[in-house]
Amino acid sequence: MPTGVSDTAGGRARPLALAVLCLAGGLAARPLPAAATGYGELRPILAQHCLACHAGDAAPLGLRLDSYDAILAGSRNGPVVESGNAAGSELVRRIKGSSLPRMPMTGPPFLSDREIAAFERWVEGGLKPGATAAAPPGDPASVPASVPASVPASVPASVPAAGELPTFRHVAPILATRCAKCHTDNGLMGAAPEGYRLTSYASVLTTRDRARVVPGRTDASELVRRIRGQSSPRMPLDGPPYLSAEEIRLIEDWVRQGARDAAGQPAPIPAGAAVRLQGRLESGWKLDGLPLTVDADTRVQKHAAPGDAVQVRGTLDEAGDARAERIRPR
Ligand code: HEC
Ligand code: HEC
Repeated sequence: MPTGVSDTAGGRARPLALAVLCLAGGLAARPLPAAATGYGELRPILAQHCLACHAGDAAPLGLRLDSYDAILAGSRNGPVVESGNAAGSELVRRIKGSSLPRMPMTGPPFLSDREIAAFERWVEGGLKPGATAAAPPGDPASVPASVPASVPASVPASVPAAGELPTFRHVAPILATRCAKCHTDNGLMGAAPEGYRLTSYASVLTTRDRARVVPGRTDASELVRRIRGQSSPRMPLDGPPYLSAEEIRLIEDWVRQGARDAAGQPAPIPAGAAVRLQGRLESGWKLDGLPLTVDADTRVQKHAAPGDAVQVRGTLDEAGDARAERIRPR
């Protein structure tokens, strides 16, 4: 729309012109109003990078970023922006990575320097609701009416297009809205259960303690077993409802295709990492179809036998197969 374009351009240009006038008039000591940004300029950035998770009732930490009022309302932990104090605002700290996990959770890539600077200017400039901050009162460009109260429609689809491989960008919104309420520091259960955080690519793929995601190997991935209900308690712990068949298939597919990061880079098999898997033992040392490497060093405890629900502890070899160190009924 030509009118929309010229409105925006005019709105951006005017404060600059004002600043030039101020300077010319010997008022250089005043802070430059040109630096301020309005919420309207941030909306497209939020829609593209944040709203896949931070919208609706399941928004992580209750933080909705889908309207001006919602941002100011903040999260379960309190406000995320403090007018005039960008460095002290959690939202700015998260997008810069000075507070972790860094946002957007799908990153890297994170926001560009320009996008981050726009958020900083907005906070420093007093959290103006409109398209720009410094336009005089009554100026059409400063009227928030051009900014709808919420932006439901433009949330990026989290389903891969036909022929596109699933990446962390596609699965992260499921983890953020269904799992991170518990699997985070200070979540619903206090510390993250089992120390397992589902709040960033790195934390989902961590091999500290053990690997819960084995790239390329769904059956060796405890995360997949938990959402299928092969391993108990089934996840999400607060289900039913559990994940839908489509969501489970998407996560399985993501693991099968190499648990790729948001840029599409597959992750290597963490050879040597520990695993702890639960499931049903089948004859021939299989765990729900997953062949286990069992040898003289494997400790089979309490007469674990085919048909039993068991827990297997072991380590991964180069192919992602599990060498069983201990098998016991549970
Ligand atoms: C893929 C899902 C996802 C996306 C996309 C995402 N976030 Fe988050 N965000 C989360 C999760 C999950 C948490 C809770 C993690 C934690 O702090 O333990 C969170 C936490 C936050 C917090 C901390 C709130 C508080 O009170 O501590 C802020 C601020 C935030 N996000 C801002 C953003 C911004 C801004 C964007 C876009 C640039 C964004 N997020 C994109 C999932 C996401
Ligand atoms: C209401 C809280 C809650 C929610 C929501 C939740 N979990 Fe859990 N999760 C737990 C608890 C508690 C445990 C430990 C249970 C046990 O094994 O005794 C756990 C354990 C796990 C484990 C095993 C960790 C390990 O070290 O072996 C995985 C994997 C897991 N959850 C994945 C998920 C996924 C994926 C989701 C979302 C689809 C999810 N969880 C949602 C509470 C939760």
